[in-house]
Amino acid sequence: MDDNVNNPRILHLREKKALAKLGGGEKRIEAQHAKGKLTARERLELLLDKGSFRELDPFVVHNCTEFGLDKQKYLGDGVVTGYGTIDGRLVYAYSQDFTVFGGSVSQTHAAKICKIMDMAMKNGAPIIGLNDSGGARIQEGVKSLAGYADIFFRNVMASGVVPQVSVIMGPCAGGAVYSPAITDFVIMVKETSHMFVTGPDVVKTVTHEEVDFEELGGAFVHASKSGVAHFTAENEEDALLLAQQLMSYLPANNLEDPPLVASKDDPLRQDESLDTIIPDNPNKPYDMKEIIHRVVDEGHFLEVHEHWAMNIVVGFARLGGRSVGIVAQQPAVLAGVLDIEASQKAARFVRFCDAFNIPLVVFEDVPGFMPGVNQEHGGIIRHGAKLLYAFAEATVPKLTVIVRKAYGGAYCVMNPRHLGADLVLAWPSAEIAVMGPEGAVNVIFRRELAAAEDPVAKRASLVADYRERFANPYVAAGAGFIDNVIEPRETRPQLINALEMLQNKQGSLPPKKHGNIPL
Ligand code: HXC
Repeated sequence: MDDNVNNPRILHLREKKALAKLGGGEKRIEAQHAKGKLTARERLELLLDKGSFRELDPFVVHNCTEFGLDKQKYLGDGVVTGYGTIDGRLVYAYSQDFTVFGGSVSQTHAAKICKIMDMAMKNGAPIIGLNDSGGARIQEGVKSLAGYADIFFRNVMASGVVPQVSVIMGPCAGGAVYSPAITDFVIMVKETSHMFVTGPDVVKTVTHEEVDFEELGGAFVHASKSGVAHFTAENEEDALLLAQQLMSYLPANNLEDPPLVASKDDPLRQDESLDTIIPDNPNKPYDMKEIIHRVVDEGHFLEVHEHWAMNIVVGFARLGGRSVGIVAQQPAVLAGVLDIEASQKAARFVRFCDAFNIPLVVFEDVPGFMPGVNQEHGGIIRHGAKLLYAFAEATVPKLTVIVRKAYGGAYCVMNPRHLGADLVLAWPSAEIAVMGPEGAVNVIFRRELAAAEDPVAKRASLVADYRERFANPYVAAGAGFIDNVIEPRETRPQLINALEMLQNKQGSLPPKKHGNIPL
């Protein structure tokens, strides 16, 4: 910038802009840094392509006159908003400035966020929110609450229209948590970010439980127990990098396809090691992520909800340069059984992919639904139904590879042809039946077993016979329920070919206002 300017108006503008950049002042910036946190502007610089950020509303100030606030005004009112690019693609972003009233949300602060949300929806680009806030601006009372509700309303309107990502980089408490909760992805920074509806003091008063911030609402808790956080990051830089990586798999809006990314990985590449990856013993676990890594482009898999409901694996990858959403059982955790949390996790992911034109690829090895009083009383019936509903409703290209077990109701849920899958392939190791051989033999040969001279030998022979007859892919293939049985090594070229075949798929649902997924 030319410093040799004499125009007093320009000099005045420059002064004001410099002031706006200081937020709540140098002391508070130092305090922010001392906590290991970056400032709102430093975060935006890291998130967006260098020099691409265009700020809006830097001169907005609050209009509260209560508690002497009319004498404390800060340009920008505690949030930096605007737009820029990530990898050259437009995104809208806001970044709460903790140095101004603890990043608390006033009516004007909320209005700034709403403005960019409206622009994002109108212009079809993602919204990324960097959250660091003490919640509603206490001095403003209901006006601040109204501001929050204005944001929530837009979060809901934008849902399924443009991708929404929340990065939690400080406190996010009270009703404020409901904006991130509605967005598609929540990234939390370890140790410095916390989310809860009521804090440790209120918890102690009401339930007499003693718990600290980290135990109640830290990144680890939300990533592994509550499922609120989709990703955890070691630090702020890592969190912003994750947001960038996530964007690379997503389209800008629901009318676009995700970007095609040229890959050096040969689409015809076969992987012989897949032929021996399934253990001979059908009850032996293995790591499904190994299969995913060996099949997808360059082995890159961005796992979502890595630490929650680990018996199911979901995340983004590319096949032949196309983004895909992968849903797979994890036999290494609870034998890959479907339970309440796994159903919720996968259902939401499937719906996200469907909303944003991302084809679904399922790797199936599911022994069934989790038995137990806790599961039944916890509502496995309605939660399991979510996943079935999500797969059935999805109109994006849907591919399934049955690598081992596909038993019982879980076969019906995990994207079979009957729910509209476009192509179902099975490995020779696939076992597709109403139930596993041991359970089946106990039911259908109860009398024979009771009368047998040597029940153990009898059971073993009946199980072997049942396995021979039903625990294979050929009954289902004979009925046309699966489209082909393939050698595991061929999986990558087969899937890439199928995605090409389906690239112009037109899917639609019967006209309706909206369905009634069992929430
Ligand atoms: C106004 C606030 C504020 C708030 C913090 N500040 N929260 N000002 N409204 N909600 C101000 C502080 O007065 C202080 O001002 C500065 O921000 C930094 O705060 P500190 O307390 O010094 O920081 P720290 O020790 O890091 O603690 C951060 C904190 C704490 C944990 C967030 O400030 C806190 O508990 N704040 C109140 C949280 C809260 O109860 N919010 C309302 C929740 S209800 P100075 O001038 O000293 O720098 C809610 C409803 C939303 O949000 C409903 C939506 C539907």
